[in-house]
Amino acid sequence: MVSANVDLNAKIPNNVHLNDDRRLQRALEKWQPHFIDWWKDMGPEGFQEKDVYLRTAISVENDGWAHFDYVKMPDYRWGIFLTPPEDDRRIHFGDNIGQPAWQEVPGEHRNSLRRLIVTQGDTEPASVEQQRLLAQTAPSLYDMRNLFQVNVEEGRHLWAMVYLLHSYFGKDGREEADELLARRSGDVDRPRILNTFNEPIEDWLSFYMFTNFTDRDGKYQLLALAESGFDPLARTCRFMLTEEAHHMFVGVTGVDRVVTRTCELMKEFDTDDIGAHGGVPLSLLQKYINFWYSSSVDLFGAEKSSNAAAYFAAGLKGRAYEAKRYEEHTGAGIYQMDTLAGDKVVSEEVPMRNAMNEVLRDGYIEENEKSIEKWNRTLEKHGMDFRFSLPHRRFNRTVGQWSEARFNRAGELITEAEWDKQKYNWIPSPDDKAFVKTLMQQVTEPGKIAGWVAPPPRGINNNDFEFEYVKL
Ligand SMILES: [Fe+2]
Ligand SMILES: [Fe+2]
Repeated sequence: MVSANVDLNAKIPNNVHLNDDRRLQRALEKWQPHFIDWWKDMGPEGFQEKDVYLRTAISVENDGWAHFDYVKMPDYRWGIFLTPPEDDRRIHFGDNIGQPAWQEVPGEHRNSLRRLIVTQGDTEPASVEQQRLLAQTAPSLYDMRNLFQVNVEEGRHLWAMVYLLHSYFGKDGREEADELLARRSGDVDRPRILNTFNEPIEDWLSFYMFTNFTDRDGKYQLLALAESGFDPLARTCRFMLTEEAHHMFVGVTGVDRVVTRTCELMKEFDTDDIGAHGGVPLSLLQKYINFWYSSSVDLFGAEKSSNAAAYFAAGLKGRAYEAKRYEEHTGAGIYQMDTLAGDKVVSEEVPMRNAMNEVLRDGYIEENEKSIEKWNRTLEKHGMDFRFSLPHRRFNRTVGQWSEARFNRAGELITEAEWDKQKYNWIPSPDDKAFVKTLMQQVTEPGKIAGWVAPPPRGINNNDFEFEYVKL
């Protein structure tokens, strides 16, 4: 069902009455060809003219919000969709509780909001750039299609943020929107803003890890912004969360399918060392977990943050599930936080508002434990003794206080020399990555799959795994 105010036939599909605002419509229609050029340059390489079985957002209703059909990616209908406004919505946390939610950008928060939106927006095209060569080694058509689905939806998320920039931030918003298409993941001169989004994703194991761990960071950022007192931002992020769920599904089930295949090979050849038999050893999977988890943990920013405190105080960025899960919404109280004092980890009392990044990170870590449990259940089902675990949050950090020293997987302080000696027992070495690359062979026959990963139990949108998800 398409809700009444969704205009699907417009040049830019939308449910924001773009027709009524000619200036905005013209500005976005001017940005659109630049976006398409960027997509053709930086989107999936070698597959732009293929028919892909994709879902497209066509409404914001809970039922039937998406439509599935074959589409060539450059013709994908990237649209602007916000969840419907609530009557009389109020700011529900921080210093302005009870005030009407903002429908326009308040002058005093303009810079903060722009920064939040640009930082979020920058991650969306970045991940498409990171993943642009992956289809060339897709283990199956099903996986290839999932990659493209994630990619086009990250493109739509870019649209979502660009809509906000164009609508509410005038000339600097338009400039920021242009910059979002100008930066490039991993580029020395014009890198993407956050470091994880400059890491290359050159193999499918990294892709599954990224969509599990890094897209889940995205989920938590969106959850926090979905609480925002700036109503258009909240409504935008709420709808983005609907799409994000599939990205994490691709990640968590992707890793799980690798675990399954690894167990099968271990039993077939009666050895842990299945590398020679075309599988990913469990110990190597654990290293990938260590790396992508720690890199994604960085994305929550510094443990103590006056910016985070200011965003919360103003009502710009809340906690995940602020309205649903908390009773106290002013951010009063104390957060008991571990901190580094010389060569010791000590406990410190931090005002709750200054600990908001850490609070968000706590929820994120807890949710990641569930992925680990799922993968461990698969190990158990196959009778394996090995168990996966998350490294400590202090492990391998490049952002925040823990980046100032080295920690082992258990979170214990170690010397630089010890780190150098051990690091490739914990994170993938160049040899490990080279090995994983040797497994990456493209399989394009419907119903067939590469040897290092198991097929999914079912396909997409009630289709079988054997369905022809991409017509090559
Ligand atoms: Fe996204
Ligand atoms: Fe995503």
